[in-house]
Amino acid sequence: MANPQVDDYDYILTAEPARSEVLAGTESDILGFNGQFPAPVIRAKQGQRLRIRFINKLNEPTTIHWHGIRIDVAMDGVPYLTQPPIPAGGEFLYDFVCPDAGTFWYHPHMNSVKQLGMGLVGALIVDESSATPYRDVIIGLKDWRLKSDGTYLPLSLPREAARAGTLGTVATVNGRQQPVIPVPAGQALRLRFLNMDNTRVYTIAVDGREPVCLALDGSPLIPARPFKQEAIGAGMRVDVGLIAPTEPGTEIVIHDMKGRFGVELCRLRTVVEEGAAEKPDKTLLSLPPNPIPEPDLEHAEALSFVFEWQGALSPTSAEGEVNHSFWLINRRAWDSHAGADLPAPLARLELGKTYVIQLHNATPHHHPIHLHGFIFTVLSSDKRDIDPYQCDTILLEKNERATIALVADNPGRWMFHCHVIEHMKTGLMGYIHVA
Ligand code: C2O
Ligand code: CU
Ligand code: CU
Repeated sequence: MANPQVDDYDYILTAEPARSEVLAGTESDILGFNGQFPAPVIRAKQGQRLRIRFINKLNEPTTIHWHGIRIDVAMDGVPYLTQPPIPAGGEFLYDFVCPDAGTFWYHPHMNSVKQLGMGLVGALIVDESSATPYRDVIIGLKDWRLKSDGTYLPLSLPREAARAGTLGTVATVNGRQQPVIPVPAGQALRLRFLNMDNTRVYTIAVDGREPVCLALDGSPLIPARPFKQEAIGAGMRVDVGLIAPTEPGTEIVIHDMKGRFGVELCRLRTVVEEGAAEKPDKTLLSLPPNPIPEPDLEHAEALSFVFEWQGALSPTSAEGEVNHSFWLINRRAWDSHAGADLPAPLARLELGKTYVIQLHNATPHHHPIHLHGFIFTVLSSDKRDIDPYQCDTILLEKNERATIALVADNPGRWMFHCHVIEHMKTGLMGYIHVA
C-alpha cells in the first residue's frame, strides 16, 4: 500500500489556456493552472515530500519554479540551467522536500511576461510541522493588463520596461476585484499576502486592531513585530497576524497605500462559524523558526553586485523581434535568447562558506531582487533601519545599498534576478554557482 503521507502531498497540475471572469460580467482568455484562476493552492508539510506531476497543455514550452523553497537544484524549474524546457504536450515530475514552513508560491520560468501575466501564478503553503493557532486567509495579489472589454493591452511596453515596468489596469485579489472575504469571527487570523504580480509594489495596510507582522517571504519574525504597513515588490510575501472581531458582520479593510489614502484591495468580513472554538486563543504567537543555517559573519567572504541601467536597444533579430536590453548586473546583461548557451555565472561560491554580499541599486527605479534556492539575511541598508530578518527577495529602492548574508549550503546553479518580470527579461538576471 502506498504511504499515505506521500499521497497527501501528491498533486497533478496542468498549465492550460482557459477563460475567467476577471472583470465582472466579461470573460477573458487566461492561462490557468488546472485551467483555473486563482490557481489551486498547493499545500505541503514541512520536512515532507511533495510530488507534483506537471503536464504542459500550453502551446509553447515552460518550466515551473517553486519560489522560496530551498530545493534540490534539479527541481528548481529554470530552463537550461536546471532542466530542459518541458515542450508543449510534455510533462515533468517535480519531487522535492520543503524544509521550511511558510508562504511560498509557484510560477513558470519561461516566456514569463505572458505566462505569468496571463495567470500562471499560484500559492504554495508549507504548514508547520506542529499546529499554530492561526486560521489561514490567503490574499493573492495580481493585476491584469485588460481593456474594459476583457481583451488584453500589450503586456509590456518597452518604455515602461526601461523604467519601473508596465503596470496592470485591473487589480485583483484572489482573482476578483475588491472582494469581500469571509473570516471566522473572534479567531486568530494569519493573512498571507502574496504579490504574484509581474510589476507592482503593493504597500499593504490593514485596518484591524493591533496587527502583527508574523513573517516576510515565509520566514518568521521572532518575536512577531507590530505591523504598520509593508511594501512588497513583485514576488514578495508578508504574513500578518490579527484577531478577528467577535461581532459578526464586522469589516476590516485592506488598502494598498499609494497616495495619501490608499486604494482598497479587499475587505474581510467576520462570520460566525458553526462548531468554532468558544474561547479562541487571543494571543498572537510568533511562528516557530525555520532551520536556516546561521551565517558565520566573522569568517565570511565578500561579494558585491551592482545593478545598473543602460539605455540600449540591441539589434533586431532575424524574425524582426526587438531584443531589448536595459539592465545590467555587474556590467552584464542577461541575454534571454541565449537558451542552451549559458553565460558564465555572476559569482562562484564555495559550498559551506558564508558570504556577505553588498547590493547596490545604481538605478533610478526600485527592484525586488530575488535569489533562488536560499533564504538570506538582510543585515543593513543605507535607506532604512534594519533589524536583521530573513527573506528570499529584497526590495531595493532607487540608489539603495544593502548588505545581505547567506551560507552557501545548497550546491548548484541558482538564478539571481529582479522579479519585475520585464526587468529580468531585459537584462536584470544572472546566476551564481555554488560548488
Ligand atoms: Cu519567483 Cu526566478 O523566481
Ligand atoms: Cu525563486
Ligand atoms: Cu527590477
